[in-house]
Amino acid sequence: MTPEEILAAVAEEVKNCTKCPLHLARRKAVPGEGPANAKIMFIGEAPGFHENVQGRPFVGAAGEFLDELLAKAGLKRSEIFITNVVKCRPPGNRDPEPQELAACEPYLDRQIRAIRPKIIVTLGRFSLAKFVPNPKISQMHGKPIRLRGQLIVPMYHPAAALHQPSLRKIVEADFARLPEIIAQAETIEETELAPEPQEGSSKPKPKQLSLF
Ligand code: URA
Ligand code: SF4
Repeated sequence: MTPEEILAAVAEEVKNCTKCPLHLARRKAVPGEGPANAKIMFIGEAPGFHENVQGRPFVGAAGEFLDELLAKAGLKRSEIFITNVVKCRPPGNRDPEPQELAACEPYLDRQIRAIRPKIIVTLGRFSLAKFVPNPKISQMHGKPIRLRGQLIVPMYHPAAALHQPSLRKIVEADFARLPEIIAQAETIEETELAPEPQEGSSKPKPKQLSLF
């Protein structure tokens, strides 16, 4: 299957998925969207109110703020792939439960394997926790981590930063440095891009880069 076909297949499965209780209250599942050849992937937490209605990621207030942040980084929505660790809205926007994250993870893994992005920007701690156990976002934000030839760039979640002026300044500064990080990622050899490990295999230890 081509990467496009894999993404389409994942989206179709997600729309009909009943693997965790979040399917019970959802209106529309939100598989994610963007080109299969995107160099950068953004991974958020879970659909909120508007995403659940429209079936698209980051279309509410947090999405508007994300668009502003992307503009600061010189990026267009149309060139990035954007999704969430959990594809259905948790009722009342509560945090996703560990078993919901686990049930949904294979979809995200298949998306990452199909796209093979050079850079993965994690939005918020649930997304970062997929790559780094028990992450401290206050210490890790804005600093790329090299993992299997990919750069993981931890960012604060735009929804958290939106109404907190101190966080907002930080996340704006972090996004402003993305072009520099993207240029750095361009130097990662294509051959270094190893596929994601299969489920159940041990994850390699991530290294936080000191360069930045
Ligand atoms: N917040 C997220 O984490 N994801 C969305 O898609 C929307 C808001
Ligand atoms: Fe399936 Fe993920 Fe939705 Fe749960 S959140 S029902 S695992 S698509």
